[in-house]
Amino acid sequence: MAYEPVLTRFFGGFEAQDLDHALAHGVYEGARKALAMDPAQVIETVKASGLRGRGGAGFPCGAKWGFIPKTDRPRYLLVNADESEPGTFKDRALIERDPHTLLEGTIVAAHAIGCETAYIYIRGEFAYGARVLERAIQQARARGLLGEGIFGQRGRRLEVHVHRGAGAYICGEETGLISSLEGDRGYPKLKPPFPAVEGAWRCPTIVNNVETLCNVPWVFTRGVAWYRSMGTEKSPGPKVYGLSGHVNRPGLYEGPLGLPLKELIYSDEFGGGVPGGRALKAAIPGGVSMPVLTPAEVERCRMDFESPREFDSLLGTAGVICMDETVCMVDALWNILRFFHHESCGQCTPCREGTGWIEKLVSRIEGGEGAEGDLDTLLAVAEGMCGRTICVLADAAAWPVYKGFVKKYRPEFEDHVRERRCTVRGRGA
Ligand SMILES: Cc1cc2nc3c(=O)[nH]c(=O)nc-3n(C[C@H](O)[C@H](O)[C@H](O)COP(=O)(O)O)c2cc1C
Ligand code: SF4
Repeated sequence: MAYEPVLTRFFGGFEAQDLDHALAHGVYEGARKALAMDPAQVIETVKASGLRGRGGAGFPCGAKWGFIPKTDRPRYLLVNADESEPGTFKDRALIERDPHTLLEGTIVAAHAIGCETAYIYIRGEFAYGARVLERAIQQARARGLLGEGIFGQRGRRLEVHVHRGAGAYICGEETGLISSLEGDRGYPKLKPPFPAVEGAWRCPTIVNNVETLCNVPWVFTRGVAWYRSMGTEKSPGPKVYGLSGHVNRPGLYEGPLGLPLKELIYSDEFGGGVPGGRALKAAIPGGVSMPVLTPAEVERCRMDFESPREFDSLLGTAGVICMDETVCMVDALWNILRFFHHESCGQCTPCREGTGWIEKLVSRIEGGEGAEGDLDTLLAVAEGMCGRTICVLADAAAWPVYKGFVKKYRPEFEDHVRERRCTVRGRGA
């Protein structure tokens, strides 16, 4: 199926870092249209488009903007460019290849919520992306698109600052991000209050993902009907998909939401199938916290916010990780759990202790030292971690265990315990 790329239209090079190139291709036209509308109208338009957040949870963007209270206090927009979820690498590419569309979406969002100061919180390791953004901001300021009197409108201002993060996964969680931006440790906070009511410096704050804001201008340049012509009723619009692992053509691909996962992995337009003609053993639909899918589930799953739920999984960031038949599921899970154990901020006991316990248990099973009963203990600990903590990192660590790997590949875990070795790759005692 031929599909017109919009979000990734500049991915062939770096020319669009330059403002003249961006302007010549219509960037900032959407902002011009939105700034001619009332903020309430802008919010209604985004609500009508059905745009859902691309940071992982799929929360409706217009509804979130609508939660901002009318107040005299400053209102902030925080652009979440922390992107630390393994398997996810779309936002950094959008920043490096198309920084002006991100600034354009930021201008529209800021207008909608009545904000004059926005921060782009970018993962510390993305030094190049931060430099690209700084330069794009300078260019936009010099042309009157940012700063005082933007777009020639007196009294209307917007300052955008780039803030480099400290390199912790938890700083991507919106309240952790706010703590980190304020200069504290990136500790998440209990919600409510939600950031829209009380966020940065205790003022109303909207946190949006990079890709979400890159979608926004298209709603205004092409219109709501065009936006809704892609994807499904509940998940409309374009999406940047990541593909990594055992696939012939790993990379970033754009398609409508709702694309069949099978098409993404196997079609020549996208992944081109599994290398060496080997069989696919499993695929993670969207960053490692999303429960893994079996080949039979891959056949039926569509990449929207609803379909993966049928298989006890979620779309997440739509960064797909493919695993072929040579992969040991115990080893793959251990790898994921090492990450979450390392990244737990330690505030909540079920997460601090739980991530350590489940990692240890899986490491023991993979090393051929698993005991009978370990699998049941593993499942019990994982399930006990859910819904009891300040943020969902604990759930994100537990889901791959009890909704994914152990649930769907249990015989492989049992073989490891019985044989006292890795039965896929022959390692262990
Ligand atoms: C542990 C954790 C890490 C997260 N990391 C990111 C991230 O790196 N980037 C991101 O956009 N959202 C991340 N999120 C989701 C944010 O909390 C928030 O929902 C999102 O930025 C909202 O933007 P959206 O509505 O535009 O999707 C993370 C959430 C959790 C629980
Ligand atoms: S769930 Fe984990 S990461 Fe989240 S606040 Fe609690 S300890 Fe920190």
